[in-house]
Amino acid sequence: MSLISPWRADFPGILALEAEGQTYLDSAATAQKPQAVLDALLGYYAGGAANVHRAQHLPGERATRAFEGARSHIAHWLNAADLTQIVLTRGATEAFNLLAYGLEAEFQPGDEIVISALEHHANLLPWQQLALRRQLKLIVLPLDRSGLIDLEQAARLIGPRTRLLAVSQLSNVLGCWQPLRELIQLAQAQGALCVVDGAQGVVHGRHDMQALGCDFYVFSSHKLYGPDGVGVLYGRPDALQRLQHWQFGGEMVRVADYQAAEFHSAPLGFEAGTPPIAGVIALGASLDYLAGLDAAAVSGHEAALHAKLLAGLAVREGIRLLGAPQVALASFVVDGVHNADLAHLLTEQGIAVRAGHHCAMPLLKSLGLAGAIRVSLGLYNDGEDLQRFFAALDQALELLR
Ligand SMILES: Cc1ncc(COP(=O)(O)O)c(C=O)c1O
Repeated sequence: MSLISPWRADFPGILALEAEGQTYLDSAATAQKPQAVLDALLGYYAGGAANVHRAQHLPGERATRAFEGARSHIAHWLNAADLTQIVLTRGATEAFNLLAYGLEAEFQPGDEIVISALEHHANLLPWQQLALRRQLKLIVLPLDRSGLIDLEQAARLIGPRTRLLAVSQLSNVLGCWQPLRELIQLAQAQGALCVVDGAQGVVHGRHDMQALGCDFYVFSSHKLYGPDGVGVLYGRPDALQRLQHWQFGGEMVRVADYQAAEFHSAPLGFEAGTPPIAGVIALGASLDYLAGLDAAAVSGHEAALHAKLLAGLAVREGIRLLGAPQVALASFVVDGVHNADLAHLLTEQGIAVRAGHHCAMPLLKSLGLAGAIRVSLGLYNDGEDLQRFFAALDQALELLR
């Protein structure tokens, strides 16, 4: 498998960074955008911006058509049965907060919310704070030695008081696919709602919501080669109906009077105010771009890069890989070396990797670590990026040891 990316030239950001001497290896934090996404952003503004769902004039009608067209692309991408199952938010984090507020009335004191030990703060703190507001118990599913949620423990811990399960499809630190179907079955057998954090999983392959069977699935556009400021909340129709409205304002209301109002149901009832119009349209362009690629070639390329990354880390002394990553990322620590020092020296050599707790402080703490370095690859990375990374790593480690 060739380690040259045939798609690299589609990403002006990667080329610009390269020209500046930067090697971008932080796509799990945010991905670079293809030209098609930049064109869609510019096209919306340069062609005459207009608000959606409210104006009957031509620009307004055109913007609404493009915006709703993108919603329908997203629904298709996830194999949702209907486009009304797609709520557009301002990011994955906002979608989790929407859920935690929107479902608050479902809970009685003493009820249980189950998460896992590897959750990103975005899928931990909204539930933690809800638990504190309503006197709920937050149960944390432990991991097994390979970094997967332990199913035996899950079967013990998910019980009749479990009202909601919220787990990640793919850890942003450990990079392994979680046993979602089994977990969803365990939770649904207890009548609990299931929320899946798809922020990392959505980037790797296509995921069929109807087959997965979760109640809610959340992701952010910016990790899927789309613009930032846009999030997606997929919901099953029956689950969406259980949500209480949480943000109030323009276009989410059917009838408003001074003392009372009636609200739209999903999706519009959960999209108060002017939405991120250009961003949503550009997310649609990103999905179009991705749909036009040879998916097997993309995953083959990423797998080949990943194998080279893992092999390079394995032959270097004192490097400890976290978990058993299955997608093109690797988090690691080096014996006797502080991750911040290493990150500093890599940064000085133009290597852009992520260092620190990766917004998963409790996970890092449970591993006995204050932080780790994460290398994460996008479809535009190539073998030379890895060569530059390893050369910089060797130089940094020589200095630090
Ligand atoms: C697993 C996971 N969940 C949730 C998020 C939150 O996404 P955002 O910051 O785009 O809201 C991230 C972002 O890093 C993530 O990796």
